[in-house]
Amino acid sequence: MDLSIIVPTFNEGPNVGELLRRIGEAMGDRRFEVIFADDSTDDTPAIIAAAAAKAPYPVRLLHREEATAGLGGAVVEGVHLAAARWCLVMDGDLQHPPEDIPRLLDRAAQGDVDVVVASRYIAGGDSNGLADATRSTVSRASTLLTKSMFPRKLHGCSDPMTGFFLVDREAVDVDALRPRGFKILLEILARRQLRVAEVPFQFASRHAGESKASIRQGLRFLTQLAMLRFGRMSAFALVGGAGAVVNLVIMWGLIRLGVDYVVAAIIASELTIIGNFLLLEFLVFADMRAESGRMWHRFLKSFAFNNVEAIIRIPVMWVLVESAHIPSVLAAGLTLIAAFVLRFVFHALVVYAP
Ligand code: GDD
Ligand code: MN
Repeated sequence: MDLSIIVPTFNEGPNVGELLRRIGEAMGDRRFEVIFADDSTDDTPAIIAAAAAKAPYPVRLLHREEATAGLGGAVVEGVHLAAARWCLVMDGDLQHPPEDIPRLLDRAAQGDVDVVVASRYIAGGDSNGLADATRSTVSRASTLLTKSMFPRKLHGCSDPMTGFFLVDREAVDVDALRPRGFKILLEILARRQLRVAEVPFQFASRHAGESKASIRQGLRFLTQLAMLRFGRMSAFALVGGAGAVVNLVIMWGLIRLGVDYVVAAIIASELTIIGNFLLLEFLVFADMRAESGRMWHRFLKSFAFNNVEAIIRIPVMWVLVESAHIPSVLAAGLTLIAAFVLRFVFHALVVYAP
């Protein structure tokens, strides 16, 4: 087997037949397999199974009931199953033209690289398939942000957010990948210094169905960046920092409405505690959820801890205001910072303990 083609799919039934046909045509008499890394909730698996039975080359279906880590998680599981050393990852909606695969293979055959990236952002490529101006601006801005955070590792890569690339499985420590959400190439490139080559390609429009990109994917991506660059604590800090700002804004608003500052701090804290838990659950500790029991139990632990913390924090704040004469919102801010460090330790070691 010369190549394993890994296609992540989420409800892409109407695209499967056309994709397999064009892959078969583009690959000619090369020896290859296609692995669908599928998280669909509709009849896509049945469509893939039927197409596999008819295909003139091996087509395998990896269907996950629990879509751990989304698109990226599916791709990594696909790589684990791959029979070939070289794995090509491409979308299932024909935005990545199968006719370009031979050019990626030819580049890899020159023998001096670990990854060949199909890029929208070098001469000869284009990103016209990005549905609208907003998507295309977001894509360019996040590419710049990402490159500035990994200036060395992404030096040779103009399009770290592409989902179309060829990778030498043996050059990557697959078990060390912590995929979350959409950007699996970024995860691969940011972990270790790889030798990257690029070939241009033209990002087409979707064949059928609609995109699964969303604000939630965007948030996951920002968390992924923070985690890759600064580790989990910084992602936690980002969430905690945002929570602290919201907490202070609510408190300020309530004081403006005439609520006593202690009561205002209590109400603001309860609301922030619940919001924070949800962000930790779905962003910062998303990769540890599967191994740490029930969400309900984690919520109770987190809620209890934060309340005990808040109960202690409020008298401390009171002392700071009444005896040290620090303004109330500043005192609240200082105690929030101290509480934050304790909270990280507790969540990492207790709430999300395997
Ligand atoms: N297994 C699995 N699980 N596949 C998924 C999931 C998921 O949770 N979410 C999306 N997919 C599949 C889709 O079915 C499709 O084949 C592919 O991943 C890309 O998803 P789209 O919904 O088409 O997203 P897009 O077109 O907005 O994003 C593409 O462009 C980005 C660059 O702008 C993808 O190629 C991204 O990887 C790429 O970064
Ligand atoms: Mn797409």
